[in-house]
Amino acid sequence: MKAVVWQGKRDVQVAEVPDPVVQEPTDAVIRITSTGLCGSDLHLYEVLTPLMTPGDILGHEPMGVVEEVGSEVTHLKPGDRVVVPFQIACGSCFMCDQGLQTQCETTQVREHGVGAPLYGYTKLYGAVPGAQAEYLRVPQAQYGPVKVPDGPHDDRFLFLSDVLPTAWQAVEYADVPKGGTVTVIGLGPIGDMACRIALHRGARQVIGIDLVPERLARARARGAEVLDLTEHDDIGAAVREMTHGRGTDAVIDAVGMEAHGNPAGKAAQTVGGMLPGKLAEKVMTKAGVDRLSAFQAAIDIVRRGGTISLSGLYGGAADPLPMLTLFDKQIQLRMGQANVKRWVPDILPLLTDEDVLGVDDFATHHLPLVQAPEAYEMFQKKADGAVKVVMRP
Ligand SMILES: NC(=O)c1ccc[n+]([C@@H]2O[C@H](COP(=O)([O-])OP(=O)(O)OC[C@H]3O[C@@H](n4cnc5c(N)ncnc54)[C@H](O)[C@@H]3O)[C@@H](O)[C@H]2O)c1
Ligand SMILES: [Zn+2]
Ligand SMILES: [Zn+2]
Repeated sequence: MKAVVWQGKRDVQVAEVPDPVVQEPTDAVIRITSTGLCGSDLHLYEVLTPLMTPGDILGHEPMGVVEEVGSEVTHLKPGDRVVVPFQIACGSCFMCDQGLQTQCETTQVREHGVGAPLYGYTKLYGAVPGAQAEYLRVPQAQYGPVKVPDGPHDDRFLFLSDVLPTAWQAVEYADVPKGGTVTVIGLGPIGDMACRIALHRGARQVIGIDLVPERLARARARGAEVLDLTEHDDIGAAVREMTHGRGTDAVIDAVGMEAHGNPAGKAAQTVGGMLPGKLAEKVMTKAGVDRLSAFQAAIDIVRRGGTISLSGLYGGAADPLPMLTLFDKQIQLRMGQANVKRWVPDILPLLTDEDVLGVDDFATHHLPLVQAPEAYEMFQKKADGAVKVVMRP
């Protein structure tokens, strides 16, 4: 089959690789019909290169049709239309029982001391072959895949794999009071969707921050107030001015480790990306390689006693953090990969013809899978108005 493979920094290619097969009774194989490109893939494209191996199949936002199931997969049969969560969880352990599927105790990658494995996401997360491919082997398929109705086009359901539950959890963890206020830093797919969900769930004021004009315009068109980072020297002051001098009740960081505006972090990431193998891996996961400007802004913007919800991905050991300010402002802090299946029952009823979250035209670009190299480059450069790119094998 054809698959998108990582070959090196800013180098992805479409290659011919062996078709996946059912290996365990709990496996399924699906034929991919749509597969998303995510901001998390961009980290692999550029700064997390030490954690990648040439030939790794990328991608973690799949939907498609079941081809084959193992003997223990009883809720699916060939021909079923499914969306697959980006993490692999068992659905029946202590953690899964609490809706913490990203911490699944059956599948945790213990070798590296991290949580559940992720499709197409570095050796740290299990080196599982990813979903930007014609076919995908789905482990723990007795639990993971979500059956969706036939009929509506793929984009109606595709974002259940990642964008929707991630944005939903970001809003949930932000704990915005009824009629309260929230700032969303970063208006890529995750931040954009978090704005929509916050408004849908009754936030009175949603302030979105980014520096890409099309992204600001998209969020504004759906009811967020927006601030262009490039027009404000003091973004915290700008938000306070809009909120009676207090800051917002909550802040969602939907940027993560590659935030603009931190030259030191950028240098550390570049160095990490240049070192050989094991050493670079250490620098990546143990040294201060995260660019913290979005998180620092969140600490400044949130009102005293408010909540910060991090959904942007961080991967190093950040130091120093303004502990005095965090403590003094009495800030609540929540974060993590989204526990996809925990939120599916909340989200699925919204994916109807009314399309309250605007998923039907959420993607800005649909490209054939063979154009993955162009898709990555366009998405990274935010060229051609690209916000969400969906590829089709
Ligand atoms: N927690 C999860 O489960 C989960 C799931 C998916 C994605 N993510 C992470 O969420 C983040 C966003 O993903 P995405 O797909 O929306 O990616 P993206 O790269 O398209 O979006 C990031 C946005 O942040 C903006 N930005 C950069 N620096 C900024 C700054 N200092 N202030 C304000 N805006 C800034 C960029 O212009 C861009 O629009 C990534 O870090 C991704 O890895 C986490
Ligand atoms: Zn993703
Ligand atoms: Zn589990």
